[in-house]
Amino acid sequence: MPTPAVVPLPASIARRGAPFPVTAETAIAGDADAAAHLRTLLAARTGAAPGSATGSGSTGTIALTIAPGGAPESYRLTADATAVTVTGADAAGLFYGIQTLGQLLTKTTGTTGTPAGWEIPAVEIDDAPRFAYRGVMLDVARHFHGVDTVKAFIDRAASLKFNALHLHLTDDQGWRLELRSRPELTAKASSTSVGGDPGGFFTQDDYREIIAYAAARHLIVVPEIDLPGHTHAISLAYPELSEEPVISDQVREIIRRYGGELPVHGRPFESMAVGFSSLKIHDEATSAFLADVLGELAELTPGPYLHLGGDECLGTSPEDFAAFMQRVTTLVAGLGKTPITWHEAGAATDLAPTTVGQYWGFVSPVGGMDEKARAFVRGGAQLILSPADAIYLDMKFDADSPLGLTWARGVTTAQRAYEWDPARVIEGVGDAGILGVEAPLWTETVRDLGDIDALVFPRVAAAAEAGWSPAPGSAGRTWESFRARVGALGPLWTSLGIGFTPLPEIDWATD
Ligand code: ACM
Repeated sequence: MPTPAVVPLPASIARRGAPFPVTAETAIAGDADAAAHLRTLLAARTGAAPGSATGSGSTGTIALTIAPGGAPESYRLTADATAVTVTGADAAGLFYGIQTLGQLLTKTTGTTGTPAGWEIPAVEIDDAPRFAYRGVMLDVARHFHGVDTVKAFIDRAASLKFNALHLHLTDDQGWRLELRSRPELTAKASSTSVGGDPGGFFTQDDYREIIAYAAARHLIVVPEIDLPGHTHAISLAYPELSEEPVISDQVREIIRRYGGELPVHGRPFESMAVGFSSLKIHDEATSAFLADVLGELAELTPGPYLHLGGDECLGTSPEDFAAFMQRVTTLVAGLGKTPITWHEAGAATDLAPTTVGQYWGFVSPVGGMDEKARAFVRGGAQLILSPADAIYLDMKFDADSPLGLTWARGVTTAQRAYEWDPARVIEGVGDAGILGVEAPLWTETVRDLGDIDALVFPRVAAAAEAGWSPAPGSAGRTWESFRARVGALGPLWTSLGIGFTPLPEIDWATD
């Protein structure tokens, strides 16, 4: 019997005997929230309503329970011909067990005298994540994506057992979160996007709605205010806080290649160059601004993390950059939050000691990026790994697609997205130094949910497996196994409305 197609691969999975039939009479018992999620999933997948609240149980029962005691987010799932039980160590574990159940649900073709229907193969699964933090990132600054799109993105992430949504809320092209302390930010700096496309912003109620929607699916929201670079938009609202843009050869080259105008202080920037903007590092007014913005953001955000950026500050001297990152991480730690910064901030000594570093270099590091990343771990903190040439989801999946970019070593195939191990990226940093894995989607070329789906699926499944599953070398943790399991998910993704790209590396099931 083949191993059932579960992605990310569970810690332990065994096949055992006759399947469980899923019919209109299937009873769903136990935890009410989990039962509601399961019914929604069954209805989407089957187009009918097996497992209705009124199922008599005459063909079997699916029992959903929480039994504290196991590892956080873990679950056990057993299925045989008469019963399915999913037991979570906590509500998240039970939720993940239900995502697994949705993937196990299989269409039966029917034989003479037996109608086509649905079943769950008989299995025994014991599952728990390898890493505590499993994130996806959506850049709502280069192109704004509204609440409904963000909710759809959350649903997609939750189905693969991600537990963090990082929102890149600010960048040179726009400021996307309403702040009462600094209303000019959204009033004056939110209306544009890359390429002259419309902008937008989240009201505080929108932001709260996203947080609640994510929480109901066991994701935290990690908001990012990118500092002290990637801040040109602030010059539209508070020009006194921003330095003049630094126009390097690299800025000119990107604008020559992708179009648009050079950045001008106080005017909207709609092109794709990076690294030219900086806040005034030493001004009192900047300190007051940071206290307002980060203080209000900390109040609005129930999750433990605030992301402070710190990437590509090419117009800021190393000394100023270090002083700034030290100041801003200390401010955020004082607000009771754990700061996250991109790995460049590892060059600064005296960051707040809890600061988590997010590595976005390559799987084989170049240019000393690994040294900056290692500094976080040496200081007693941890890393999030987002190697750009593996799991930057905005990289092209094929050279001819208008979507995506190629700076991270050209086209990123699904195989390349898959074949890396978090514990082998930064020498000397193994599982204990790694908080988790995050797959970012930057949106220079991404305008809507269709574009998101086309870039994200199927490669996001590789990131999910890097974050959740046992290390490569464990049984089933191979590209060959992954491509077979992902291919089998095509019909589920289609029934969930996910417009994935059917990459030719993978044999896609059709039913
Ligand atoms: C980054 O890609 N600049 C974090």
